[in-house]
Amino acid sequence: MERQRTVEQKDIVLDVNGEKRTYRDDPDMPLLWVLRDVLDLPGTKYGCGIGSCGACTVHIDGAAARSCQVSAAEAAGKKITTIEGLSKDGDHPVQQAWMEEGVSQCGYCQPGQIMAAAALLTQIKKPTDADIDKAMSGNLCRCGTYPRIRRAIHAAAQKGG
Ligand code: FES
Ligand code: FES
Repeated sequence: MERQRTVEQKDIVLDVNGEKRTYRDDPDMPLLWVLRDVLDLPGTKYGCGIGSCGACTVHIDGAAARSCQVSAAEAAGKKITTIEGLSKDGDHPVQQAWMEEGVSQCGYCQPGQIMAAAALLTQIKKPTDADIDKAMSGNLCRCGTYPRIRRAIHAAAQKGG
């Protein structure tokens, strides 16, 4: 026998990377799952699911946010930007600096790192090492790319990040 759905379904309109996307399922579904599994935007990564690693970082209304900790319903009506929408051709100053500094190792954490760095530079144009460490402390990298991340953020700030 088919299991009955107990969750109330309603249309949730999400503004993702400048496009209106409609999602109709569990309103409590974390945004991370909606982005990856429903809207086919796999650049945002699943690391821990409990708000501890930063792999799932996107921008919500311009600020860095952990998409595993925000429900689809909470994200409705807000402006969501994922790594796919940060720039048209990967030419955001943070992305360019990342390439120039060769930051990535395995790459898994890097979309979240880049989104966190881009949000930082919208708030602090020329961050100090301490600013960077504070803003980036919640973004974990198992490969230990932190020194290169810091260098790349300074380089992006020079370019007007
Ligand atoms: S997956 Fe969201 S913080 Fe780790
Ligand atoms: S580059 Fe491998 S986890 Fe960060």
